Amino acid sequence: MTQNPAAQPGPGGAPAGRTLYGGKSSRRITVRDLTDAKERGEKWPMLTAYDAMTASVFDQAGIPVLLVGDSAGNCALGYETTVPVTLDEMVVLSSAVVRGTRRPLIVADLPFGSFQEGPTQALRSALRLVKEAGVGAVKLEGGERSHRQIELLVESGIPVMAHIGLTPQSVNTMGYRVQGRGEEAAQQLLRDAKAVQDAGAFSVVLELVPAELAAEVTRALQVPTIGIGAGPDCDAQVLVAPDMLGLTDGRVPRFVKKYADVRGVMENAARAFAEDVVGGTFPAEEHSVH
Ligand code: KIV
Repeated sequence: MTQNPAAQPGPGGAPAGRTLYGGKSSRRITVRDLTDAKERGEKWPMLTAYDAMTASVFDQAGIPVLLVGDSAGNCALGYETTVPVTLDEMVVLSSAVVRGTRRPLIVADLPFGSFQEGPTQALRSALRLVKEAGVGAVKLEGGERSHRQIELLVESGIPVMAHIGLTPQSVNTMGYRVQGRGEEAAQQLLRDAKAVQDAGAFSVVLELVPAELAAEVTRALQVPTIGIGAGPDCDAQVLVAPDMLGLTDGRVPRFVKKYADVRGVMENAARAFAEDVVGGTFPAEEHSVH
């Protein structure tokens, strides 16, 4: 029998029904709920989503936070990197994810080029995601270099998830390399983490950072850290959904755990359909109208 996680006592002593993962669906999760979870020591999962149907599956599975990441560039839009993704594209994908869900907090990425000019541009871009798409928060890349943008957004009433360590929008200067290795780089990562927290970010994604350093950042911050390739001690974990579902074509990063072979399932279904059509066994009588 499937158990309702909301009926179970919560991790870290949270009352039943108040846990982030699988809790009640009476209202949307808020950034305040995430801060409370850190205080209780409750870990939580986040997944990316780019369309209404997939987002509704993740909502049904009890995932409390969905990220409309600009990984949509690779995963949904057919680009090689996240760099070409536009704000218009993010508005369309984010509004679909909001419409497909009831409970999760929806966080949308500010894509490359939509906030680098400064705080005013960042605010203009974030307002589109909040007003047109209906997201509850935005995410933007960069530590100390993005603190002015974060400050203005938060002052304006827009919750911000920060993203430090490997920041894929900077692939042309940074490459896809582990960040924070060596004393100087580790100190910079700690400064970045404190800068985004001081600027008002409600959480921080740590991407591709040594596990020990991610643990140190997690201890040093009051706001939750969300790890991706950052070891087990972060407050939350995120994966790019097509990677963990086994939908991605080709290699995925080493830190990804594959939970399914959705690509294989879809390919087999498509082949079975094609063979039925070619062989004349579909549609059968029960699929026909008279
Ligand atoms: O765009 C994205 O999916 C992300 C995650 C890797 C955190 O930023």
